[in-house]
Amino acid sequence: MNQRRLRENEWIRDLVREVVVRPEALVQPHFVVQGLGGPEAVPGLTGVFRENEESLLKRVESDLENSGVRKLLLFGVPNEKANGNFKVDFTARQVERLRAAFGKNLFIAVDVCFCSYSTHGHCGVLHAECDHLENAATVSELAKASLVYAQAGADCVAPSDMMDGRVAAIRKMLDENGFSRRLLMSYSAKFHSSFYGPFRVAADSSPQKSGQKNLLHDRSTYQIDPSHPRDAYLSSERDAKEGADILMVKPALAYLDILQDLSRRIEKPWAVYEVSGEYAAIEVLAERGLIDARRAHLESWTAFFRAGASMVITYGARHARKWLSES
Ligand code: PBG
Repeated sequence: MNQRRLRENEWIRDLVREVVVRPEALVQPHFVVQGLGGPEAVPGLTGVFRENEESLLKRVESDLENSGVRKLLLFGVPNEKANGNFKVDFTARQVERLRAAFGKNLFIAVDVCFCSYSTHGHCGVLHAECDHLENAATVSELAKASLVYAQAGADCVAPSDMMDGRVAAIRKMLDENGFSRRLLMSYSAKFHSSFYGPFRVAADSSPQKSGQKNLLHDRSTYQIDPSHPRDAYLSSERDAKEGADILMVKPALAYLDILQDLSRRIEKPWAVYEVSGEYAAIEVLAERGLIDARRAHLESWTAFFRAGASMVITYGARHARKWLSES
């Protein structure tokens, strides 16, 4: 059987291609940090910065004008930390400012989670004994925060905390307050991964290690065990039933089997998050002269769409048009 005829030149390769990277299906994450003097580069994430209120607007404007990126995912990092009654007004204000500056030209998704808002770096309300997160208390705050973000003008709220029942609570809160048209994207298949490293530097969200000896030291009691794919299915199925519009697999490259399986079994739009550590891995290899970053990123994105993603959240969204035009 001759397969090489179909690989012979770029004309025939163009004609037989099955998967294309669509730059309009990429979402650019942003970190906005309260009280920052100016933008600070995030280690490993070339061209991504911790922004302050002014530099965020400039970055988004440049993305719109120079890179054609109209969809973003916002992470707010307030300077006041708590354990309960989390203050989300700083993040909400950034949403308002973005909406005021760019109107409907921009699709604004807001990450809903408390790891950047808590004294201990966990994603919710830590029980007095410091050994577990309180599900009900966290869910009620997540729902309130989602409403505040919707009121501020978010198109989409995206809970990433991994508490049980948060999708139903958020959907109900939005519906009952006149925001039934706002989207809910659930990080439904979010794994307990080592690939979140650069993000935790950017978002100031590492679980605190010192302190009481029974203090939760990682997120294994709320994020999904990488060895338990059935949990990813059941969690995603539940979130779809509870009213999520978009489901997500996260991280991406090490979880392509999950993405392929779940996107076939659950007929919803699937997002995949190419997380900070996997993005940075490519950048670091390229810095050492071992691979070509542009080609490696495009190859990864191709894999995500091939495995069933409708959209990809990636720190490189702003480079996509340029990189694609060079190929
Ligand atoms: C918040 C959150 C995390 C990421 C997105 N939302 C970190 C975590 O769960 O520790 C990771 C994104 C990335 O690594 O790029 N819970």
